[in-house]
Amino acid sequence: MQQKWWHDATIYQIYLRSFFDANNDGIGDIKGVISKLDYLEDLGVEVLWISPHYDSPMDDNGYDVRDFYKVSEDYGTIEDFKTLRSEARKRNMKIITDLVLNHTSDEHPWFKAAKDPSHPEHEKYKDFYIWQPPKMVNGAREKPTQWKSWFGGAVWEYVEALDEYYLHIFSKKMPDLNWRNKTMRDELKAMIQWWVDLGVDGFRVDASNHLEKNWSFPEGDPGQENFSSLPKHHEYLQELGEELFLPNDLLTIGEAGGASREEALQYAGKDSKEFSLLIQFEHCWADTDDSNHLTPGKWAKGTVDWPAIKKSFAKWIKTYENEGFHTIYWHNHDQPRVVSHYGNDGQYWEKSAKMLAMSLYMLPGIPIIYYGEEIGMTNVDYEHLEQFRDVEVFTEYQNFINNGASHETAMQALKDRSRDNARTPMQWDDTTYGGFSSKQPWIDVNQNKDTINVKAQQTSHSILSTYKTLIKTRKKNDINRARATFHDLDDPETFVYETHTENNDYLIIANLTENTVTYRNQVPLDDYELWMANSEPKQDALEPFDAFIYYKKRP
Ligand code: GLC
Ligand code: CA
Repeated sequence: MQQKWWHDATIYQIYLRSFFDANNDGIGDIKGVISKLDYLEDLGVEVLWISPHYDSPMDDNGYDVRDFYKVSEDYGTIEDFKTLRSEARKRNMKIITDLVLNHTSDEHPWFKAAKDPSHPEHEKYKDFYIWQPPKMVNGAREKPTQWKSWFGGAVWEYVEALDEYYLHIFSKKMPDLNWRNKTMRDELKAMIQWWVDLGVDGFRVDASNHLEKNWSFPEGDPGQENFSSLPKHHEYLQELGEELFLPNDLLTIGEAGGASREEALQYAGKDSKEFSLLIQFEHCWADTDDSNHLTPGKWAKGTVDWPAIKKSFAKWIKTYENEGFHTIYWHNHDQPRVVSHYGNDGQYWEKSAKMLAMSLYMLPGIPIIYYGEEIGMTNVDYEHLEQFRDVEVFTEYQNFINNGASHETAMQALKDRSRDNARTPMQWDDTTYGGFSSKQPWIDVNQNKDTINVKAQQTSHSILSTYKTLIKTRKKNDINRARATFHDLDDPETFVYETHTENNDYLIIANLTENTVTYRNQVPLDDYELWMANSEPKQDALEPFDAFIYYKKRP
């Protein structure tokens, strides 16, 4: 496989709005990222993935783009962006941005023209989006189909002036683009080229498996198969790959939830013309409870199915073995904080956060670390619905109440599962707003900033130093390209595997649970020496969330 600049890198995802507020208006910004580059360099990460920085009315925190060529005033200016790029380069860091191609904001000029029949270019722009006439039922106008949006509620919104509905698979302020329209695609490609010329090193391509729709619009409820993973979207991605991604040697990460193995290779196999890497989320909701009808789907918290998670890791490593690279990550800005979700954010907070890091980041693959994960940030501590910010929360809260859930049950689901859990301000220190800003931030800081913060973790045994050591060890020993042998994929309590690099073997032994479990060196320790631990090893037992990494040099 041809060597690429990103093969031995660790990626770090920055949720711009919540990372650091340099001008103290309560909103994270680009200058804030610039001022934390030394921190990131010290952490050892080399690629920064920045969440959408474009001009936007912020219905979905920037995933609703109003002007692709402009930096949001919340975040700064194009000059700030250029400075970020050049400051990052000085530290050998690369910048990849979020590329939102499935939809625009309803405030984008294209959509404004599209919905206004008196606009001189109405016809041209109307076809940039997806429209359907009402379905007439007993003389009444109804939605074309019952398809449901990813954020809850219908995918169709009526525009009276046209007597038609437009499609939006996310919020109604995010109309879907018509990828069958070549003029539209050419406009987007010109925009991508513009950012490449400005020096971005790659993209994380948002919602990339949704670009094609089923244009016969069959009835379906929720009907999501009509706008997910339809074969033709690969043609669009190949067009982008051949014309832009490959010739510019970009690092591209496609977001395609639920991709199969075959699809994954199509997206990001070594001969693929689409992406460099793929994110598919298979292990991200391994604890849903299908019997819960009050707060259903991802909102229903059940017990964690660890064998499913471990098998998913093994499956994806195998899928890309000799075929490309796969990504390793706990989560992004759309899932709960991992220490709360799969670990323990109470008594075993520190220990379980280290265990989760040691278990995941000794696996081969390209790591993507989510801001705040490296200090064990937790889910929100909110008591009031008004404290939440995510557009999805409010529709879903109403759905839960309509399903018969009490306010308390609905709130618990939001506290456990909502996307705001992973979007609270970065906790830099224990001052009023966690050192994020001197002003009340756009979303409340978690009050555990008093104990959980970067400043408090400048010690040799913190969660933060565990991350630093793991990241540096990966780089030094090329763990991204290692091979793994799994020893207990069916075990619901422990995770035992070996990682083989060119010169070394590592043995990882972890207790994934809060129970003490019996463990009798299933893998002989032979010449292995203890290298990293989150507690003292005991004979024949693993205490709650114990994790040990052993090491040996191959003769
Ligand atoms: C992706 C993003 C998510 C956003 C959605 C619509 O799934 O990760 O945050 O809401 O796309 O752009
Ligand atoms: Ca700011």
